[in-house]
Amino acid sequence: MKVTVVGAGNVGATCADVLAHKDIANEIVLLDIKENFAEGKALDMWQTAPIDLYDSRLIGSTSDYSKTANSEVVVITSGLPRKPGMSRDDLIQTNAKIVKEVTEQVIKYSPQAKIVVVSNPLDVMTYTAYLTAKIDSKRVIGMAGILDTARYRAFLATELNCSPKDIQAVLMGGHGDTMVPLPRYTTVSGIPVTELIAKDKLQAIIERTKSGGGEIVNLLGTSAWYAPGAAAAQMVEAIIRDQKRIYPCCAWLTGQYGIKDLYLGVPVKLGKNGIEEIIELKLNAEEMELLQNSAKSVREVAEVLDKMNLF
Ligand code: NAI
Ligand code: 2OP
Repeated sequence: MKVTVVGAGNVGATCADVLAHKDIANEIVLLDIKENFAEGKALDMWQTAPIDLYDSRLIGSTSDYSKTANSEVVVITSGLPRKPGMSRDDLIQTNAKIVKEVTEQVIKYSPQAKIVVVSNPLDVMTYTAYLTAKIDSKRVIGMAGILDTARYRAFLATELNCSPKDIQAVLMGGHGDTMVPLPRYTTVSGIPVTELIAKDKLQAIIERTKSGGGEIVNLLGTSAWYAPGAAAAQMVEAIIRDQKRIYPCCAWLTGQYGIKDLYLGVPVKLGKNGIEEIIELKLNAEEMELLQNSAKSVREVAEVLDKMNLF
């Protein structure tokens, strides 16, 4: 079983490292355009294997896609990260060209691959990969919901002084300020979170979650990588091990939630075929309005892509 991670920067290298520690792939190829960068990182990780005891072989490559051939899953993290003051959408001009060029190579060498997109602006970069790869939308999936939900769960665990393991939550919509955390679907070991936390505190956590990416950009001067890398690796694991895990992922909608022809975050079942099911929750009127508002804002960014005439 072979996995490729394109982009050996902060998120890509973290994802490869987490995957290696999971020991679920025979081979992990890390590829970057920066000369010798992926080779150096892959070698460092491979030299960790005798210490941390895993078998996954790490291979680095500078733009040589033949090394990625026949990958089962390819994670695309190549592209510029956000800098302070930049929105995810500011990245579109540069990153759309990168994601298109990378996806062409990926699909040429691994025509059967499932593609997990991480590059921002996430929903529209996933759409870019889908338009480029021209494969079943079930095989082109964006990573954002696992990260955004993890932020929400981590903030709740801090507030409630409980284990983050016990917090289950789902979050929908685009990877941006219009994302829709869903308190009605948030539980702490089965107990509705609304029974454990005051309304104003919960609302403050929801607002902090929505700007969770920006909070880290302001602290670090670049965007996060530990949680994003781990989140992408979790999706890869669900696919490779055919786990049928239910995660919030960015998926191509064909009428679900009344939304058509748009990549947007929704709960899905992930298995060996990629997205095996899109789960339709019975949202109430308020939740549905927030979701439609998020869809509208993602569609506006998708229109920026359409106007670039790349396809
Ligand atoms: P980074 O700058 O550390 O790494 C990006 C890497 O991509 C660099 O090493 C660069 O050389 C490489 N690259 C650029 N063009 C390439 C090409 N054509 N082919 C192969 N490699 C290429 O950035 P970082 O922090 O790893 O972020 C990567 C992307 O992921 C950014 O777009 C960022 O906004 C996004 N991101 C998305 C998240 C999400 O939740 N979906 C969370 C965190 C980051
Ligand atoms: C994040 O949410 C910036 O998308 C990046 O950390």
